[in-house]
Amino acid sequence: MKTMGPSTIFLVSLFSLLIPAQSAPDPTLDSNWQLWVKTHQKTYKDAEEERTRRIIWEETLKLITVHNLEYSLGLHTYEIGMNHLGDMTYEEITDTMTGFQASDDPEPNITYVPQEKVTPPEQIDWRDKGCVTPVMAQGGCNSCYAFSALGAMEGQWQKWSNKLEALSEQNLVDCSKVNGCSPGSLDDTFKYIKENGVNTNHSYPYKGKEQTCNFNSSNTVARCKGYIKISPGSEEQLKQIVGTIGPVSVAINFTKTFRSFTTGVYTDNKCETLLGLQNHAVLVVGYGKENDEDYWLVKNSYGTGFGVGGYIKMRRNYRNHCGIANYIYYPIFS
Ligand SMILES: *[C@@H]1O[C@H](CO)[C@@H](O)[C@H](O)[C@H]1NC(C)=O
Ligand SMILES: *[C@@H]1O[C@H](CO)[C@@H](O)[C@H](O)[C@H]1NC(C)=O
Ligand SMILES: *[C@@H]1O[C@H](CO)[C@@H](O)[C@H](O)[C@H]1NC(C)=O
Ligand SMILES: *[C@@H]1O[C@H](CO)[C@@H](O)[C@H](O)[C@H]1NC(C)=O
Repeated sequence: MKTMGPSTIFLVSLFSLLIPAQSAPDPTLDSNWQLWVKTHQKTYKDAEEERTRRIIWEETLKLITVHNLEYSLGLHTYEIGMNHLGDMTYEEITDTMTGFQASDDPEPNITYVPQEKVTPPEQIDWRDKGCVTPVMAQGGCNSCYAFSALGAMEGQWQKWSNKLEALSEQNLVDCSKVNGCSPGSLDDTFKYIKENGVNTNHSYPYKGKEQTCNFNSSNTVARCKGYIKISPGSEEQLKQIVGTIGPVSVAINFTKTFRSFTTGVYTDNKCETLLGLQNHAVLVVGYGKENDEDYWLVKNSYGTGFGVGGYIKMRRNYRNHCGIANYIYYPIFS
């Protein structure tokens, strides 16, 4: 079991480095800050910490204002806004609230072969088909790999058994030794699920920190026979799979404005496509077109306060934006 990992230590040192000594909060924002703190029920251990958080929050606010000004000038396809993550820096969120890493397994050479006569629809949203559980928040734990993999499990399990059952991310955090609250690979995660099965969320609720493993085989519902991992890079393949099979685990390059997304279709020219630069695992639950932009409908694990009820539309058919088609996984039951 891991206790205080390198990321925690990094966070502590990062925290003291973040703020240049001369910066001070802007007093004209006092009441806005207080309202934000109250709305999101933030508590800080002392005045020093509150000041540090306030300054970060003001930086976030500035970034949002500038981006949305550019949006109003027609320079972006999406708006951003202040949410519950506004008092954290990009580096801090990347370091403590993502959690995907590529595995050492060789990249697969598997092409999805669609069944004859099954063509993917022009748009799909698996939430409408009862295949997606409510959005949760991973908190300060690099457990996105668990949320992503279990989202795909929940979808396939629903199709297989006709029952939608939320599965236990905490089970994976505590018991799949390779991961915990440190970044993990989807290969290791699906291998664990294949070998052990996974408990229900109800019997093994999420805590967002590493604990001793409390797996109980009598509370296991879903266990996959294996998993499919598709060759990297093809959005057409991703459409085939999402369109005909169900929600799919993917990983993206996590950029600066992602955590503040509110509306539109996320297109960030700083988002890296290159294989190997993906660090946040999420779940693609559908796709479609909004205005002139094709999008992937993506379920994130930052709570319902992120994006639109916890979801983000990410640009589709845009040169594999953020590398969304680089790591494509789903479980199989037969
Ligand atoms: C991938 O598999 C195909 C068909 O089996 C084969 O023709 C091709 O050479 C393989 N590519 C690599 C990079 O192994
Ligand atoms: C998982 O369990 C927790 C604790 O019981 C609950 O708050 C949460 O809503 C559950 N999540 C889902 C997706 O059902
Ligand atoms: C496992 O779960 C079953 C059913 O909920 C319960 O009866 C049993 O006591 C549990 N075992 C342990 C070791 O907690
Ligand atoms: C994501 O892309 C940016 C470039 O915009 C790069 O600096 C960053 O290292 C990438 N993230 C990862 C985890 O590689």
